[in-house]
Amino acid sequence: MSPVLRSVVTGVGAYLPEEVVSNAELAKVVDTSDEWIVDRTGIHERHRARPDQAASDLAVEAARKALAAAGRTPADLDLIIVATTTPDLTFPATAAIVQRKLGAPIGVAFDVQAVCSGFVYALSVADGFVARGLAKCALVIGAETMTRLMDWNDRGTCVLFGDGAGAVVVEPGEGRGDIADRGLLGFALRCDGTKQDLLYVDGGPSTTGTVGKLRMQGNQVFRHAVINISEAVEAAAKAAGVQLSQIDWFIPHQANQRILAGVAHRLGIAEERVISTVARHANTSAASIPLAWAEGVADGRIKPGQLLLLEAMGGGLTWGACVVRY
Ligand code: ACO
Repeated sequence: MSPVLRSVVTGVGAYLPEEVVSNAELAKVVDTSDEWIVDRTGIHERHRARPDQAASDLAVEAARKALAAAGRTPADLDLIIVATTTPDLTFPATAAIVQRKLGAPIGVAFDVQAVCSGFVYALSVADGFVARGLAKCALVIGAETMTRLMDWNDRGTCVLFGDGAGAVVVEPGEGRGDIADRGLLGFALRCDGTKQDLLYVDGGPSTTGTVGKLRMQGNQVFRHAVINISEAVEAAAKAAGVQLSQIDWFIPHQANQRILAGVAHRLGIAEERVISTVARHANTSAASIPLAWAEGVADGRIKPGQLLLLEAMGGGLTWGACVVRY
């Protein structure tokens, strides 16, 4: 059998800003309680970026850790993709700013906007470069300052989100074309633009000329999340040629503990195989999967060679899943 070029994740890193905001602190701002937030979401606290920290700054911190884990330096990079829904500026792309701040050489750099599904979308784009021999060392980053999109009078949304960043380094590796290969093995990506009203931001450069605030019909999003994600997960597993019973770790988008548990239950995935970090950083949108991934690696649960299942859902509505042998 002739060798197959695979996109292998060789390093993972994450960063959370220093300031921690507890549920009790939010209860001073809106009519809520620690008990309600924990019971409905599983969230205990979130991190907030300093006023002088932009998405690119969080991205750079996570990127440095991912590069160190991969044994690479910024000089090695020829592709940077940032998944973000809270870019530093309308343009240039946050990825271009990250390239400058890292001191990486001239190469390809652009953003992917698929909200909370952005990291899974961005990984698939990186796969398109790396597995075709078009990039030798790619950085895929999810970086968000979601607290800047909050309406601090809306208790239904402002308690749910936080700031953070996570990154992976993706490099080519030779495989045999079967599920024993290390690398990104299968994807399923989806978008249903008719569901925009369930989750969106009410501003933008070509409409209001403002940044806008996040609006969400939480219970509707919840319903779609559990149903749609399950279908995409099964499609990604089929594309990869794996059974869900073979998955070592399930790393869902960290939006709400009840969604995580609901999806795992629907798919028959045992709770002990789910990486959940939502309690400590709330919903960090595109950053949440690499944040959880990095924590699982750092605490020794996730080991090289294991089979991981990533899934996410976000504004659009977008959703998707990826099977990867780490
Ligand atoms: N504190 C106290 N009460 C609250 C709060 C709060 N922070 N927020 C809402 N409530 C109240 C509501 O006003 C409502 O009160 P009412 O019955 O008097 O009208 C009551 O709680 C129930 O509201 P629901 O919205 O029906 O509550 P639900 O059980 O659905 O929980 C939640 C709300 C947590 C938002 C849930 O729907 C959810 O998690 N949805 C998914 C949202 C999500 O994860 N989105 C992100 C995914 S996509 C992305 O990441 C961008």
